[in-house]
Amino acid sequence: MAKITHAQWSSRLTFILAATGSAVGLGNIWKFPYMVGESGGAAFVLVYLICIALVGLPILVAEWMLGRRGQKNPINTMIDVARQEGRSKAWGLVGVSGVLVAFIILSFYSVIGGWSLSYTLGSVTGAFSGQDADAIGELFNGLLADSGTLLLWHSVFMILVIGIVARGVTAGLEGAVRTMMPALGILLLVLVGYGMFSGHFGETLSFMFNPDWSALGGDIILAAMGQAFFTLSLGMGIMLAYGSYLGKEVNLLSTAATVIILDTLFALVAGLAIFPIVFANGLDLSSGPGLIFVTLPLAFGNMTGGVILGLLFFLLLTFAALTSAISLLEPVVETVEERTPLSRTWATLVAGAATWALGIAALLSFNAWADVTLLGLSIFDFLDNLTSKYLMPLTGLAAIVFVGWFLNKEGVVQELKLGSTGALLWHVTSRFIAPIGVIIVFISSL
Ligand code: PHE
Repeated sequence: MAKITHAQWSSRLTFILAATGSAVGLGNIWKFPYMVGESGGAAFVLVYLICIALVGLPILVAEWMLGRRGQKNPINTMIDVARQEGRSKAWGLVGVSGVLVAFIILSFYSVIGGWSLSYTLGSVTGAFSGQDADAIGELFNGLLADSGTLLLWHSVFMILVIGIVARGVTAGLEGAVRTMMPALGILLLVLVGYGMFSGHFGETLSFMFNPDWSALGGDIILAAMGQAFFTLSLGMGIMLAYGSYLGKEVNLLSTAATVIILDTLFALVAGLAIFPIVFANGLDLSSGPGLIFVTLPLAFGNMTGGVILGLLFFLLLTFAALTSAISLLEPVVETVEERTPLSRTWATLVAGAATWALGIAALLSFNAWADVTLLGLSIFDFLDNLTSKYLMPLTGLAAIVFVGWFLNKEGVVQELKLGSTGALLWHVTSRFIAPIGVIIVFISSL
């Protein structure tokens, strides 16, 4: 007997919070602000906005539309919608790939979420206080070398994620984003407020926004396009799953625009919060893990109020990671729940345990299994590359190609409530511009 499992978001607002929670993650905090500063300031922001409008927005809308039409997990959604349109069942592979990507990414995303938890605790216990650069670097390397500690924090993080997702869409996901998203906003504003009075806000503004048009080369545009894709959590089954809980009355285009604006604002403001701290302490800029787990802790450890600021910052990072992580587990759980006789709780436990187990392989690649390589990459890098370079772009590409080329055109125009100009714009973007954008990024990343 088929189980009746399908939930629905209780309002457009909670859907926006959940989608924004997925979109706002490590990429917004450790990558975007740095890209802006290094790649032409306002000029880069403009290019990024164009990329996100021409590539990100159409794919986001396409994934939501497919999910909402299918009302099921990504795999069954793709099979059902393809069947309704008289297309091959093989489109179900798009769903399979999406769910697989979410599963794999969560396994190592959780390891990083664990670092964030560990540094949240570290900032409370004063682990960074008065330490010099070598000691802070050693702290991070020491964490990576210590498989037991990594396992502990990875497990704690996964338990939090499982605990939230097991409670379902309404009590679990919505409950979590209703509290964590406002908290995220407040934490960020407090940090920016501090930055404004740090004496280095002007420097930050000119670093981030002075337009430098000469910096804009082909590779910068590619990087902007890649970031636009990654930051919206596309090509990983997430937006298909989130769309499957979406009511018919919600306007997809305006909702997508709202999520994109919030995501971009968050990324820009994150830069305004982070760089004053880096500049005030005369530290070198870097991006990625080095910025978050080495440069910033060094700053926090050597400034007045650093304990509080460090705590607020790592809480911010942890919340951002958690709301993204629950969105990664959801498509996997939805699939297990609907395709097996398991209840929501058991489906979450099974999917969560499998993810946790794969995460152990990822974390061991920093220490005990450092020499184990797959195609010349550590396990962590292999999982990262397989998903972000190959499966993600291909899945997103397939979703937009399906919507652009294989869905009944009038139906799409009606669903998006488009006039004739809008229909033409949508047609050109979904058929040509967005797919070509993804193909270019895909090929150039190989
Ligand atoms: N979209 C998130 C960000 O910008 C990252 C993310 C990736 C979230 C994969 C979920 C899945 O950081």
